[in-house]
Amino acid sequence: MNKEKQKILITGGLGFIGSHTVVELQIAGYEVIIIDDLSNSKIEVLDGITSITGIKPEYVNLDLKEKDKVANFFENHKIKGVIHFAASKAVGESVEQPLKYYENNITTLVYLLMEMEKNKVNNFIFSSSCTIYGQADELPITEKAPIKIAESPYGNTKQIGEEIIKDTSKISDLQAIALRYFNPVGAHDSIKIGELPIGVPQNLIPFVTQTAAGIRKELSVFGDDYPTKDGTAVRDYIHVVDLAKAHIAALQRLISGKNKEKMEFFNVGTGTGSSVLEVIQTFEKVSGKHLNYKIVGRREGDITSAYADTSFANKELNWKTKLGLEEALASAWKWQLKQLKQ
Ligand code: UD1
Repeated sequence: MNKEKQKILITGGLGFIGSHTVVELQIAGYEVIIIDDLSNSKIEVLDGITSITGIKPEYVNLDLKEKDKVANFFENHKIKGVIHFAASKAVGESVEQPLKYYENNITTLVYLLMEMEKNKVNNFIFSSSCTIYGQADELPITEKAPIKIAESPYGNTKQIGEEIIKDTSKISDLQAIALRYFNPVGAHDSIKIGELPIGVPQNLIPFVTQTAAGIRKELSVFGDDYPTKDGTAVRDYIHVVDLAKAHIAALQRLISGKNKEKMEFFNVGTGTGSSVLEVIQTFEKVSGKHLNYKIVGRREGDITSAYADTSFANKELNWKTKLGLEEALASAWKWQLKQLKQ
């Protein structure tokens, strides 16, 4: 079948990971249609995507909670596959407003799968998270690591989401891949798209770049008494462009029928763990900026250490990260500088 004719729906396609994935899909020759309700993204991202690839993706402003509109959308578009990013993702907010999270992340997933089934759209990629492993007993974390009781409603929506898709795939033609992301960071090298945190960033890298830019006074390092190399917590920071490419590999696997199970799960990280202090040092090196920081107490709900065993994804998806922490932080910094000028 001609790849050019294959239309891929990207829900949440104007968000951080979604927009980078749209670019890679277009480069790979797919036709992309984006659904996004702009609840945590900006319409200008569409121009950023267009200026990178020269192709303006079709865009529909639609809230996936509106079941009739979702039904109408599928009746009017011939979709080959769906990559589902649209979801709420603030851990703290999910504790405050659990029902918002269950509605935004679960109800919408159910509606989407129902309409896909009705319209015989059988290829589905789901944004999952390494958060489902909690503090894993063994590092690096393989896909076989047990799933721990979720620390937050957000984390729970990722676990429940995986189960809903798996149950559906068992009794229908649906075939799916859940990509369990580690910590996505960085920006497109063109700096035409990147992360756009709303309000005070909760994640480390945007807080680091905003502090270096003078928007925040200083970074609080949450805990230096963890049992790690330097006492600070360890994570696997993956460049968003490498992560985006994993989606293309996963989609191609499904479309070409190379998947070995109806539903498969892959850890998507670099395989390298970096401590918070290592991130700070690397950032200072690539930016040439001194970063103000202080050590404070641990953040509730944080784990000590998480990094991926990437061998399964490397082999089965024929995918591997190409960019390291330095490139990721350099691109995040370039992106931050661009925001300052705007
Ligand atoms: C967080 C979410 C996770 C989500 C991921 C998305 C929590 C508990 N987990 O992961 O569910 O999938 O984001 O990227 O929120 N840190 C500081 N100072 C800061 C901010 C962070 O020291 O101002 C430290 C944290 O303690 C952690 C590391 O930096 O050790 C990374 O933090 P963050 O970017 O928030 O990611 P996670 O907590 O790993």
